[in-house]
Amino acid sequence: MKQKILITSALPYANGPLHFGHIAGAYLPGDCHARYQRFKGRDVLYICGSDEYGIAITLSAEMEGRTPKEQVDLYHKINSDFFRQLNFSFDHYSRTTWKGHAGPVQQFFRELLENGYIEEKVTDQLYSEEDGRFLADRYVVGECPSCGYDPARGDECPKCGASYDAIQLKNPRSKLTGSSLSLKKTKHWFLLLEKFREPLLEWIETKNWKPNVINFIRGYIKNLHPRAITRDMTWGIPVPLPDTDGKVLYVWFDAPIGYISSSMEWAQDIGKPDKWKDYWCDADTKLIHFLGKDNIPFHAAIFPAMIMGQNQPYKLVDDVPANEFYNLEGHKFSKSEGWTIDLEDFFSKYTADQIRYAIAANAPETTDSEFTWKDFQSRCNAELLGKYGNLVNRVMVFASKQCDGKIPSLGVLESEDQAFLERLKELTEQVDECYAQYRLRAACHLIMEIAQEGNVYFNSRRPWVQAKENRDKMFTTIRCCVECLKLLALVSAPIIPETAQKIWQMLGISSKLSEQSWDDVKSMELPDNQVLGKPEILFRKIEDTEIAQELEKLAKMTKKVKQSGEIKLEPLKPSITFDEFTKLDLRVGQVVAAEAVPKSKKLLKLQVDIGHEIRTVVSGISQFYKPEELVGKKVVFVANLKPTKLMGIESQGMVLAGSQGDLLELPAAEALPPGSVVS
Ligand code: MF3
Ligand code: ZN
Repeated sequence: MKQKILITSALPYANGPLHFGHIAGAYLPGDCHARYQRFKGRDVLYICGSDEYGIAITLSAEMEGRTPKEQVDLYHKINSDFFRQLNFSFDHYSRTTWKGHAGPVQQFFRELLENGYIEEKVTDQLYSEEDGRFLADRYVVGECPSCGYDPARGDECPKCGASYDAIQLKNPRSKLTGSSLSLKKTKHWFLLLEKFREPLLEWIETKNWKPNVINFIRGYIKNLHPRAITRDMTWGIPVPLPDTDGKVLYVWFDAPIGYISSSMEWAQDIGKPDKWKDYWCDADTKLIHFLGKDNIPFHAAIFPAMIMGQNQPYKLVDDVPANEFYNLEGHKFSKSEGWTIDLEDFFSKYTADQIRYAIAANAPETTDSEFTWKDFQSRCNAELLGKYGNLVNRVMVFASKQCDGKIPSLGVLESEDQAFLERLKELTEQVDECYAQYRLRAACHLIMEIAQEGNVYFNSRRPWVQAKENRDKMFTTIRCCVECLKLLALVSAPIIPETAQKIWQMLGISSKLSEQSWDDVKSMELPDNQVLGKPEILFRKIEDTEIAQELEKLAKMTKKVKQSGEIKLEPLKPSITFDEFTKLDLRVGQVVAAEAVPKSKKLLKLQVDIGHEIRTVVSGISQFYKPEELVGKKVVFVANLKPTKLMGIESQGMVLAGSQGDLLELPAAEALPPGSVVS
């Protein structure tokens, strides 16, 4: 029996277009692995789909002026098209609004409840009289309970970094309308995750996951506590209990079950409605979840707990090859900031294989990595074209001229020929191992090494000289090069499938490479005299001017968004008297030292010269300014704010900053000396 492998890529939210950041983390690694495993003759089911419920959807729909349904229909289409353009090989791409999804989700809920893992609790929640509904954290702003900053977000404070429950905010208001909110009792269902602590800990000890995943998840499991799995909203899977109008299941409860329902839909579509069980309900299946690191808890702890607590014999995950983050030119991808790549434009100029290769070669496997246009250019020009494409082209052109366009036969092997063939075999084995271990970067490196070995061999054998002196030797050289092209097509097919197929055709083979098996191709002897296809240029050169244009476009886009943007203005605050205003002592300060606050993502500790003295302040700006950029900079400083402790540091004042969405900027006062009054 073939080994069954069930592969999933995290279901993307259908609330915006995907970008390369997503592709690098959860999708391309999954697709390459699925292609590799099929190639190795395994029985693969590769599943994905759109994640269509939850606040992330309703909030974005509201901001873009669509209903949730219109929103998910739009982005489901955009994202499925995008996956198609990138040649993704999903066996099925479903959506969580598919009618068959609610069934298994409600089955999980019912059985977890019956088995004593779900409990009902009445809690206080923020309610908007004006809208007649409870508001989720992300719809709420108010005054930070820790530092007093207003408007702080519903879950954490952008100023001091504190995280809290929205009900702890002072003066809580609706983010959308500004209307004030009050507390009201509401009933919710909680998943008693702490009951799974022991079984989960025992279970993960049997796993041989990446150290970053295992260490993180072990700590996470130890701290499991009850978690609300229902929400007061209408967009979602209904709670399958009486008198629960206006309540739905939390999106993270239904979404992972989407892997199961997507498999069910796949089985229906192929006319074998029970076939999904062959994968999900067989202990011998290997289940692999591909995802970005922010999704680890749900896949490595919560979803497994949900499976343990219900009654169906579903597979627990076997491997979680989570990836780190992938940025764009030093910053995270952000549509709202214009920091992104227009994919439609991208596909009109470059090929899917170029982007697949560039991402794979620089995949964020062990640390964060980034897409840069320069790196893209050099991956395409120096590697794909300069090494890989170059070898294919020179061998093909030479064979068409000197070997009558046919595969020549192998003569007597000299030691250099033999060593070359041996080396190719070795490298092929190594690529095989890399794929098995989800190491795409290393695989790319080896693929280029194979191409380079080919180029070096070709140069060293000098077939153009052999052609005049000893044609049999020349035939042997070209035959060995043809073997190299065959292996190159094989090992690169999971990453650059279209290109690999082109080589396959150039070798004169009419079948599809993707329908062959790895081991067959590896040992396959191409027939002597097989007619070769026409030499074809595989990659075009990307000019410096094109890259300069791309960078310029990026700069323009961010500027445009900064100027006009999708700006969400905060409501105005009640007025104060002039006297009240003059109580504020605002000064020009000059930053004289800056350092990151340990264990904090947002905070910097600054020493600010305000003329009279030097003050220490803690400021939540580290995602926008590097410590070294700040030293010497003039800022506007609130000098008479009562000191407060942040992360154990006494903060003696405050640095003013303007912010909008994901942007933040310090207002300048560069020409004034420290201590100058601002009024
Ligand atoms: N939509 C989620 C995200 O983009 C991922 C959901 S994965 C699933 O972060 F397992 F829940 F489906
Ligand atoms: Zn705060």
